[in-house]
Amino acid sequence: MTLKFAVPVALLGTGMYVPERVVTNDELTKMVETSDEWIIERTGIKERHIASEGEVTSQFAAKAGMEALRAAGITPEELDMIIVATNSPDMLFPGVGPLVQGMIKATKAGACDVQAGCTGCVYALVLASAGIGSGLWKKVLVIGAEALSRLVDWTDRNTCVLFGDGAGAVVLGVSEGKNAVLAAELHADGEKGDYIAFPGGLAARPANHASVDAGDHFVKMKGNEVFKYVNKVIPSFVKDVCEQAGLDISDIDAWIFHQANLRIIEGILRRLNVSEEKAIVNLQKYGNTSAASVFLALHEGFADGRISRGDKVMLVSFGAGMTYGAIILEI
Ligand code: COA
Repeated sequence: MTLKFAVPVALLGTGMYVPERVVTNDELTKMVETSDEWIIERTGIKERHIASEGEVTSQFAAKAGMEALRAAGITPEELDMIIVATNSPDMLFPGVGPLVQGMIKATKAGACDVQAGCTGCVYALVLASAGIGSGLWKKVLVIGAEALSRLVDWTDRNTCVLFGDGAGAVVLGVSEGKNAVLAAELHADGEKGDYIAFPGGLAARPANHASVDAGDHFVKMKGNEVFKYVNKVIPSFVKDVCEQAGLDISDIDAWIFHQANLRIIEGILRRLNVSEEKAIVNLQKYGNTSAASVFLALHEGFADGRISRGDKVMLVSFGAGMTYGAIILEI
């Protein structure tokens, strides 16, 4: 059954921003023992954009957010709420949401961050949809933004080759016609919290010499466990969400999976019996941009015409927590 909101929701615009500096796989071979062939074969990633010195997540978020607002034809003053999904905020507080609110002068908007691993953008989109659907807000800017390169150990080949920086944004508002949100579902599996973690610097392990020496201030990941877990849970989860909307898998016009690894995306598509042409994939250029990833793909899908108005698009993400979630939009 299609979701029923008191107020119908519309997607009004999208935007994105990536930092200028591009780091190729070949460049990484100067930092760790790896190769272009290994990275492409195991992940599909060819290059990624990385924050230069002084660049921070809030700057990427504000730039992507402004592009989405321009596309939507609305001004920052019209916003009721800004929600930023990030795992690499400039600092713990103030959050990136309030920083962006101040930077773009969204004088009437509330603002906060959502932290749910790479799934954060889908969580934020669902929260924003519910906020509009309930009548609480009229216009919401949702941003996924990361400078995760700052949290990665550049001597650890298991993680540093995977991630990239950037931001994607979506503006949601009250629809004058149909409700764009056909289904949404969010899950968490906190018992698997050790699969991807950033343990240091906060209440459990405050920053001190020992925590720095132990490398607690870097992303830790059990890549293989994540790989197996995602392949196990995502295909049946995606089928369930389609069923909720009364849709068949074949009714989805475009698929946007979290851009973590091409092998993961291909494996899911195979299990769902969906052709690769229906999936928007841009991880070759950006790597895994965590909470920004599905918004970057959504924006590029629109920009190059692979997604058109009227299409049914499914956004699916997974990440630290473990968390996973999906939303189906009829754009
Ligand atoms: N270059 C070369 N070799 C590397 C390497 C690199 N960058 N990273 C790891 N290896 C090595 C490993 O050390 C291992 O060597 P060993 O057999 O001598 O111990 C070998 O490659 C195989 O490692 P394995 O972990 O089994 O590889 P994999 O095929 O599972 O690929 C990932 C590794 C990380 C690419 C893959 O597991 C993955 O993408 N997992 C999901 C991660 C993810 O999506 N995280 C984010 C979720 S939000």
